[in-house]
Amino acid sequence: MDNAPGEHSNHIFPHDFMWGVASSSHQVEGGCHNNQWAAWEKLGRIKSGDQVGQACDWWNNAEQDFDLAQSLGVNALRLSLEWSRIEPSEGQWDEAALLRYRKMLTALRDRGIRPFVTLHHFTNPFWFEERGAFELPGSVHLFERYTQRVVSALRDLCTDWCTFNEPNVYAALGYFLGEFPPGRKGRFLQAAHVTRNLCLAHAAAYRQIHLLQPEASVGWAQHFVAFKPRRRESRLDRWITDFVDRRFNENFAESIATGVAPFPLNKFGHDLAEVKDTCDYVGINYYSRLRAGFHLNSPRTLFFQLTVPSHKPQGDHGVELPYGEAYPKGLRRAVKRFKAFNKPVYILENGVPDREDRIRPWVLESSVKQMKRLLSDGVDLRGYFHWSLTDNFEWNEGWHLRFGLIEIDPRTQVRRPRPSAKIYEEIIRSSRNGVGKAQSNG
Ligand code: GAL
Repeated sequence: MDNAPGEHSNHIFPHDFMWGVASSSHQVEGGCHNNQWAAWEKLGRIKSGDQVGQACDWWNNAEQDFDLAQSLGVNALRLSLEWSRIEPSEGQWDEAALLRYRKMLTALRDRGIRPFVTLHHFTNPFWFEERGAFELPGSVHLFERYTQRVVSALRDLCTDWCTFNEPNVYAALGYFLGEFPPGRKGRFLQAAHVTRNLCLAHAAAYRQIHLLQPEASVGWAQHFVAFKPRRRESRLDRWITDFVDRRFNENFAESIATGVAPFPLNKFGHDLAEVKDTCDYVGINYYSRLRAGFHLNSPRTLFFQLTVPSHKPQGDHGVELPYGEAYPKGLRRAVKRFKAFNKPVYILENGVPDREDRIRPWVLESSVKQMKRLLSDGVDLRGYFHWSLTDNFEWNEGWHLRFGLIEIDPRTQVRRPRPSAKIYEEIIRSSRNGVGKAQSNG
């Protein structure tokens, strides 16, 4: 664990660097009853048995957390729109929901905070899920129509758009690992088919946004896992690691970069010419490192298994599975992986589940160190969004995993800053003052 808080000189960050926090609708708003995650919860599929309830109460009072964000000094905040509120049944639009989002974006701008808006962060309206979600060819048009509606309604308040959050996680956890709805296991080709439609939907949304708002900046959030072979001496483990790494980390990005479908997306045709070059920035979500290895007893996951060595730094353990090794150095690797795009880069999510704030300070400081190295290497890094401002409902882990700079008690809604909140505030302040409190140790 390399650096103590406040020991950095952060003057290398550009004066307009976006220091932000990230969130998503279902995880913070409360009252999202009409999407597939609400149905998943009703089926008893949240491993902790928790209920999302009023989450962080943003639908009623996001403004209280915007105040907290402002007090930390952030100048950007990433949030997502809940499609199931805006189009509660097919073709029916809820103007009151759009108005609430207008209020939220206005409240951010009033506080000097630039909104970065995600159109799709894992949740689908229930009617869309029932029709097959992104397995359906028609899904591309339905997503494009939703995009047209929301961007028309909000374009005077926002120019930074993220079409999809982590299409690779959505497809892999929903159709291959069975951890997310619709809970399918081992459906490798179905996952590929969904990924392909997500690519097409992304590209259609990209074009739609630029039609409505030529100056917009549009991308998606790419989840990156730093994979490592479980046994370096095993050829099989090395091969599997390379396979998983390329398919999971690169397939979506490669399609957008080249317009040619990589394996296994090419099982449905090679041509993806219409998606080529549909991004204005590279957006990366990075959290952890996992070991990949051959495992005879895992035929449903193509004989691979993901593990975390117990002696490596880790945040909190999930209900059933480890979350991953906290490995801040992987951030640099993630950014370098997408160098060929030659586009501005945003870290759209980074953080660690850590209720007691044991290692979050180290993760934060070390991630800043990695970003400084990237900037001095000449990378056009424009912003960093910490996941998350407050604890929120962590998908199938419920309230079990806590990612907040600020702790929240979901029953009382009482908020209590963790030490990391101060550390982040200090990082931001020192980057703006030019020189940190103490002198740099490099
Ligand atoms: C990301 C996801 C977020 C949040 C985070 C922490 O994959 O986009 O919604 O859950 O992980 O695990």
